[in-house]
Amino acid sequence: MTFKEGLHNKAVDIEKALDRFFVSDKTKFDQQIIEAMHYSIASGGKRIRPILLMEIGKLYGVKESDLMPFACAIEMIHTYSLIHDDLPAMDNDDYRRGRLTNHKVHGEAMAILAGDGLLNYAYEIMAQTAFEKQEPKYVRAMFEVAKAAGHKGMIVGQVADMVSEDQEGDKTTLSFIHENKTGQLLTVPMLVGGILGNAEENQIKLLKTLGHHIGLMFQIKDDLLDIESTQEVLGKPIGSDEKNNKLTYPSLYGVQASYDLLETLKSEAIVIVESLPGDKIFLKDLIDFLVYRNN
Ligand code: IPE
Ligand code: IPE
Ligand code: MG
Ligand code: MG
Ligand code: MG
Repeated sequence: MTFKEGLHNKAVDIEKALDRFFVSDKTKFDQQIIEAMHYSIASGGKRIRPILLMEIGKLYGVKESDLMPFACAIEMIHTYSLIHDDLPAMDNDDYRRGRLTNHKVHGEAMAILAGDGLLNYAYEIMAQTAFEKQEPKYVRAMFEVAKAAGHKGMIVGQVADMVSEDQEGDKTTLSFIHENKTGQLLTVPMLVGGILGNAEENQIKLLKTLGHHIGLMFQIKDDLLDIESTQEVLGKPIGSDEKNNKLTYPSLYGVQASYDLLETLKSEAIVIVESLPGDKIFLKDLIDFLVYRNN
C-alpha cells in the first residue's frame, strides 16, 4: 500500500467513526442543528489531527478503539474553529473544504451555533469516555485538550491573528500567532496519544517539542498555499491573508525564507521522531506530506 492510500484509509476510518456521532433524534430543531454541524464535519478535510493522535497512540501500544473518541473530539473542535474562522466577523471566507462555508449555507446565526454545538459535543464525548473508563489518564488528556483549545491556546492565537491585521508585525508576534492558533491543536493530539499510552514524562516532553515543530511547519505551509495554490486544489479561497492584511511567514520573511524554514523544521522534526518507540515509517512520511502537500 502506498503512503497516500494508507493516509486515505485512515481518514475514512475517522470519518466513519465521526458519522456515528451525528444521528438526530428526528425532532425538528435537533435535526436542524445536527444538519448544520454535520455539514462541516462531513465535508472532507485532511483529518490530520485525529490521524496524528491515532498514530502516536499506537506507537505507545494503545488500542484504536480507546483512541477514537478523543480523535473524533479533536476533529470536532478543529472543525468548530474553522466554521468560526470563516465567519464575516473573522476571515470572511466563502469556501471551505471544497464547498460553501457553513454560514453561506445555514446562515450566520446557525453557523455560530453549529460551532458551539461541535465544541460542546467534543467535551461531552471526552467526559463520557473518562467517566466510563474511570482512569485518571483520560481526565488528564481532556484537561490538555481544554487548555490547547482555550483562551491560552488556539483562541489566544486567533485573538493575536485578528488584532495583528493591518499592523506592522514582528517576528515574536508572528511565532506567537502560529504556535497558538494552529500549533496548539496539532500538538495536543500527540500529547493525548502519549498520555493514553502511559508514556514517560520525558517522552511527553519530546512529543510537545515535536508538536511545536509540526504546528509551525503546518501553518507556514498554510500561509504559502494561500499565496501559491488555487481554490480548486485547496478547497478554500486563496488570497485570504492578503485580503485581510494578515501577518504571515511569507509576508514578514518572504516566500523563499519561509520554504527554507520549513526544511529546517522538518529535519528537526524527523530527528525527534527517531527517538520515539515503535514503527515510525508512516509518521515520517506524514511529516513529509505536511511539508510538500498541495492542499
Ligand atoms: C486549516 O487546517 C486551518 C489551519 C489551522 C491552518 P487544515 O489544513 O487541517 O484543514 P482541513 O481540516 O484539512 O480542512
Ligand atoms: C486558522 O488560520 C486557524 C484556526 C484556528 C482556524 P487561517 O485563517 O490561516 O486558516 P485558513 O487558511 O482559513 O484555513
Ligand atoms: Mg484565520
Ligand atoms: Mg481563515
Ligand atoms: Mg490560512
